[in-house]
Amino acid sequence: EESLAAIADMPKVELHLHHEGAAPPAFIRGLAQEKSVNLSGVFDARGGYAFAGFERFLRTYEAATSVLQSPEDYARLTTALLEECARNGVVYVESFLSPDFCGGGDLGAWHEYLHAIRDAAERAERDMGVTLRGVVTCVRHFGPDKARLASRCAAETAGDFITGYGMGGDENAGALKDFAYSFDMAREAGLRLTVHAGEWRGPSEVRSALDDLGVHRIGHGVRAAEDPALVDRLAEAGICLELCPGSNVALGVYERLGAHPIERLRRAGVPITVSSDDPPFFHTTMRDEYLNLARTFDWDEEEFGALNRTALAHAFCDADTKKKIA
Ligand code: ADE
Ligand code: ZN
Repeated sequence: EESLAAIADMPKVELHLHHEGAAPPAFIRGLAQEKSVNLSGVFDARGGYAFAGFERFLRTYEAATSVLQSPEDYARLTTALLEECARNGVVYVESFLSPDFCGGGDLGAWHEYLHAIRDAAERAERDMGVTLRGVVTCVRHFGPDKARLASRCAAETAGDFITGYGMGGDENAGALKDFAYSFDMAREAGLRLTVHAGEWRGPSEVRSALDDLGVHRIGHGVRAAEDPALVDRLAEAGICLELCPGSNVALGVYERLGAHPIERLRRAGVPITVSSDDPPFFHTTMRDEYLNLARTFDWDEEEFGALNRTALAHAFCDADTKKKIA
């Protein structure tokens, strides 16, 4: 229908995309072949990524990522993912980049990976009009020591491209306060902060993200919806939630999109945004996310327009970049 098509075509701002998680399975298969890496168990019978549940998703993610071994591989991945962004009308995207996967936390190697990624991003910006910024991300189940290395990489490269620091990985591993040092280091380097919290653990984890890490945004944060006082706090403090509804349904956080709290959070005045997380893993795209939300919650172009203004307001890039995007 006409208005649905207009919604799918809207210019979009995306704040939560994992760089490796955006790799199409065919891209990973091709690299595996080139490098003679055995990826048995990573793909299903139809050639998609194989996993059941969050923990096996993380294992599949890390196995697929093992074929990304050089700055050149990341340059190719960057081009591929920005082409997909452009196809989806995404004009600005922040992706999570992990020193753990890009040189293992070594600062010299990290510089080389970043150089290759930025080069590819500048070409994509020129050719396709999509702007990329990087959020350096540590991996929670790799532990606080690795996170410190990631934070040092982030602090050393903070600037117009690396604009933030965050953490993904297994939310059930360890406590957020164990990572306070690396978040403090990143904050002191001028970086904005986000953390995956309240995707698997409940409201107390979202509270800890605010109280122990002092983040500006929260990755997912959906389970905050179970605590009305916390929802009010998020709204009053203007903490942006990087919601990824398709990811939540694919991983079984919610049984179906209609059961997702996104509409309740929106009505409560929480700054909500919509992103695709790891789109080929979850068989989604930004267009699909918008279409599914429009169908399920009856949102019109005005609601999606507000969503994108919120995303741009809470983006980690500088004001000049925001002005160019708007
Ligand atoms: N890494 C990649 N995708 C993730 C997710 N949805 N949650 C936590 N860590 C991740
Ligand atoms: Zn994520």
